[in-house]
Amino acid sequence: MNPPDQPEAGEGERLQKVLARAGIGSRRACEEMISAGRVLVNGQPVELGRRVDPANDRIDVDGVPVATRPGLVYYLINKPAGVVTTSADPQGRPTVVELVPGEPRVFPVGRLDAATEGLLLLTNDGELSFRLTHPSFGVEKEYLAHVEGHPKDGVVRLLRRGVELDDGPTAPARVSLAGADVLRITIHEGRNRQVRRMAEAVGHPVRRLVRTRIGPLRVGTLKPGEWRTLTQDEVRALERATASNPGSSRLARRASRQPAPPRVRS
Ligand code: URA
Repeated sequence: MNPPDQPEAGEGERLQKVLARAGIGSRRACEEMISAGRVLVNGQPVELGRRVDPANDRIDVDGVPVATRPGLVYYLINKPAGVVTTSADPQGRPTVVELVPGEPRVFPVGRLDAATEGLLLLTNDGELSFRLTHPSFGVEKEYLAHVEGHPKDGVVRLLRRGVELDDGPTAPARVSLAGADVLRITIHEGRNRQVRRMAEAVGHPVRRLVRTRIGPLRVGTLKPGEWRTLTQDEVRALERATASNPGSSRLARRASRQPAPPRVRS
């Protein structure tokens, strides 16, 4: 008798074939990973010859989950200003889902304000989407904020430490000047209109906001309104970025060491 969680002999697909299809390596390389004990199925070490059900079995390589479920799609778009990050808009404005193929149905990963431009992911992988957006996973989002006025070093330091907003202080952020009136701001919280409110709180309202990075992914050379599918390596990089213990990113670790930020009038 097979253990209850294993397919009968001949059922399912060979593990190395599933891993190779997910872009982990050649079948031969995947066989070696299995033999070396680097692959777990449903949390258990397995031997070569193991068959799996890619739709239901959880597979990890070196502790990182492998996206094996069929039918998952991942799109990276360069969102133009004026397009809303919802599936349907009561005001009839264009939506981000209209920019990508309609089947299978996908959803935006987190939100950008209608006026914000730049990198946005859309997927039907609800689990990864949750991990990318939930603040406890600490995935970094980087923005270029074109602001009014010329922020001084003191302003940059304030933003780094965190500023007081009406829904509480912001966590420490990575902030630098990318131009006389352009701030590069990296945050991992994702509160509503956070970057705009942070800039406003230090006296430099945002004129234009562009998201340039989510974790390991950059918007690259895509023009506004263009999209592309993620490569398997990129999906895996996102899995890796969200695989570690929640709250373990550098910014999140720094945040947990920082005292409360000073109050700044907004
Ligand atoms: N912060 C903002 O203020 N707006 C966005 O769209 C994203 C982050």
